[in-house]
Amino acid sequence: MAIQISPSLLASDFSRLADEARRVENADWLHVDVMDNHFVPNLTIGLPVVEALGKATSTPMDCHLMIEDPDRWAPAYVEAGAGSVTFHVEAATAPVRLAREIRSLGARAGIGLRPATPIEPYADLLPELDMVLVMTVEPGFGGQKFLDLCLPKIRRARELIAKSGGEVWLQVDGGVSADTIERCAEAGADVFVAGSAVFGADDPAAAVDALRKQAAAASR
Ligand code: DX5
Ligand code: ZN
Repeated sequence: MAIQISPSLLASDFSRLADEARRVENADWLHVDVMDNHFVPNLTIGLPVVEALGKATSTPMDCHLMIEDPDRWAPAYVEAGAGSVTFHVEAATAPVRLAREIRSLGARAGIGLRPATPIEPYADLLPELDMVLVMTVEPGFGGQKFLDLCLPKIRRARELIAKSGGEVWLQVDGGVSADTIERCAEAGADVFVAGSAVFGADDPAAAVDALRKQAAAASR
């Protein structure tokens, strides 16, 4: 299992996004949190900014859509340059159709699950997906405390992925730090989003390397 780190730009300086992206060039992805003030009580960035950021960085963008009606909006994020687009199952009307559309446009397709959303109802969708995102905080804000109650779901998701036999990545997002990343890796996560733990550090690139090392050691 290859460990990947996806720093969340939500914790970076929004007035200098391209510079912030360049501070973590050793990361596998740039995690871009798109919030619409409806699915979550916060408003961040949308298509024009994603499009501009994509032109300013060579690191692939991992767009996490915390928005209503992803069926309508998600494909445009692929066109704007995202390499991976994750939509929330709680908001999607036709997740199978949407995952197929994202893939057909050339990006990886992921589903996101809020802390109280179970993985089991989506087991049959796994062959249609490239990634499952298990939220480890309620989506909407950075800097929240990691919810340990999500760990059993990470374990169950890893088991279902193994059973389905596909190459589905398992991402965790929310409160992931030096204190919590080992628990996530032991439970079976392989893609780690970290906002405050990366951009709150004096040296964000060093934080990315340190988190990767910790996760790799714990996942063995
Ligand atoms: C929260 C976002 C996260 C957030 C994580 O809704 O989806 O990506 O940036 O931030 P930290 O790592 O600070 O919890
Ligand atoms: Zn996120």
